[in-house]
Amino acid sequence: MTNRKPIRKAVFPVAGMGTRFLPATKAIPKEMLPIIDRPLVQYAVDEAREAGIDQLIFVTGRGKTAIVEHFDHAFELEATMTERDKSLDAIDPTRILPGNLVTVRQQVPLGLGHAIWCARAIVGDEPFAIFLPDELMIGQPGCMKQMVEAYNEVGGNLISVLEVPEDEVSSYGVIDPGKRGFGPGGALTEVRGLVEKPTREAAPSNLIISGRYILQPEVMRVLEHQGKGAGGEIQLTDAMAQMIGQQPFHAVTFAGKRYDCGNKTGFVEATLAIALEREDMRDEVRAMALRLLGE
Ligand code: G1P
Repeated sequence: MTNRKPIRKAVFPVAGMGTRFLPATKAIPKEMLPIIDRPLVQYAVDEAREAGIDQLIFVTGRGKTAIVEHFDHAFELEATMTERDKSLDAIDPTRILPGNLVTVRQQVPLGLGHAIWCARAIVGDEPFAIFLPDELMIGQPGCMKQMVEAYNEVGGNLISVLEVPEDEVSSYGVIDPGKRGFGPGGALTEVRGLVEKPTREAAPSNLIISGRYILQPEVMRVLEHQGKGAGGEIQLTDAMAQMIGQQPFHAVTFAGKRYDCGNKTGFVEATLAIALEREDMRDEVRAMALRLLGE
């Protein structure tokens, strides 16, 4: 037991245009692209709820209403299915308690840091989680639950990290690691510095930020004055870097599998990997994959 403020709110920045998946994402938000039968954003929301977080804040933009519709009650659908004696199990995960989903708009695409700052009034004065739905994290327990367990021990700010090959570091935020291998499951690393999208030569390690954060509300005040960084965007990584030394800052090495669904190959990999794990389809999918590979 601890007396730390619990993590009850999660911010999902979903305003991005998804240009890498055009034309699929011309009229559909990229977060609604399905991995089998669940849209990407649903995996992130399920992970949040598993970690005990039930207040969902979506930072959206134009053309993103399908995400909000997805988590709304669908009266006609539910009534018709009930009338026909069909199970509602498949839509259960989309049901959010009234009042627990809030949206704010990011009117201009100024970067991830700016998107998070757009949620400041709703986050208020409590620690909160951030989920980048592009990063699909599959674990037991899920990534955020692992992070909340670590948070209960060390408090402060936490980010999830994992190792990538050195030639991939320039696509991510990278940590400068201090003391390693302590805390629950030996998963904690002290964070001494953070760099957004460094060159391979300048990267302080090959440990990248993998799209899950628990942050203290003070980050909003830092973001308020944050100038543009990598790619000319207001970067969350730069704001977090300024908090190191002021508040505890740790990385949690995620025990589980991670798929970067922000690119096409990662998306295909996730689809195949999850299909091969699902009891209802793995045998058929395995046979199909072997057949295709043999051709
Ligand atoms: C963002 C973050 C970066 C992080 C990455 C994870 O980058 O800025 O620090 O490593 O997500 O996917 P983006 O993918 O928006 O360029």
